[in-house]
Amino acid sequence: MSVVVRDAEINKAKELIYELAGIHLSNDKDLAIKNRLNKLIKSCNIQNFDDFFSQLKTGKFKQEFINTFTNNKTDFFREDFHFVDMLDRILPHRLKESEPLKIWCSASSTGEEPYSIAATLSYGRDIYRSNTPCSILATDIDTSVLETAKIGEYVVDTCITPLPEWLDLENSFDITPKSERNVFIKVKPSLKNFITFKQLNLQLSTYPFGVNEFDIIFCRNQIIYFKIEDQEKVLKKIFSYLKIGGTLYLGHSESPLGIQNKVEKLGQNIFVKVMD
Ligand SMILES: C[S@@+](CC[C@H](N)C(=O)[O-])C[C@H]1O[C@@H](n2cnc3c(N)ncnc32)[C@H](O)[C@@H]1O
Repeated sequence: MSVVVRDAEINKAKELIYELAGIHLSNDKDLAIKNRLNKLIKSCNIQNFDDFFSQLKTGKFKQEFINTFTNNKTDFFREDFHFVDMLDRILPHRLKESEPLKIWCSASSTGEEPYSIAATLSYGRDIYRSNTPCSILATDIDTSVLETAKIGEYVVDTCITPLPEWLDLENSFDITPKSERNVFIKVKPSLKNFITFKQLNLQLSTYPFGVNEFDIIFCRNQIIYFKIEDQEKVLKKIFSYLKIGGTLYLGHSESPLGIQNKVEKLGQNIFVKVMD
């Protein structure tokens, strides 16, 4: 039997998810919030919201609560021009250097994005015959998507997500047809070796990396869930971990808020850092 979710509980959930993850849920999401809250307390085996919110205050169910309100939409090679840019513009010269190449995927969701980055990297290392050490750090606040990502197995509807033809996919993935539209994709261990998955809340005041640590940062389709003023704060922080000359990729509806004067725009939300 479902518990009645009142406006007060919906508002409390909105306040809490903002406090914990910076996620801003607008009023048009109320119905979805109601359904998700209902499902959540059932799965936590709790009978009413007073109990639920008081347990949440002690830290219990905090992660489950966060996982409930993240939006994890992602795809393999989403906005694929970013991967093409990486292959054609960055890798030919960067993979000639011996210094390790470091990439950060800052909202990796269920893993399709970091595995697309890794497949591009692996293909680049083959065609440019490179032994440059490469690593990808893939982070997200949501622990359930990180678990899915680590497994690296997906059913993909190729009518909705056509797979690219500009790289050798078979090198990185075992791909088995399941039906006319669907394929089963299993990430090869050699590809997984490039990636470390870790939990990270982008709302923390600092992140556990060195200043200017990364050559490339993917920060796509994540900051849109934050308020404008928070988008700017988070983006400035993320940007401080990018090397001068490094590349920041943003999602199609995101802007380089607060860092416009420190980047050169190369098109389609590709930004090269020109100063700290
Ligand atoms: C819509 S997905 C985008 C995935 C991928 N970057 C892409 O473009 O396909 C947004 C991701 O941001 C994560 N996220 C939301 N708030 C976060 C926060 N405060 N810190 C880190 N990740 C967060 C969510 O868990 C979710 O997996």
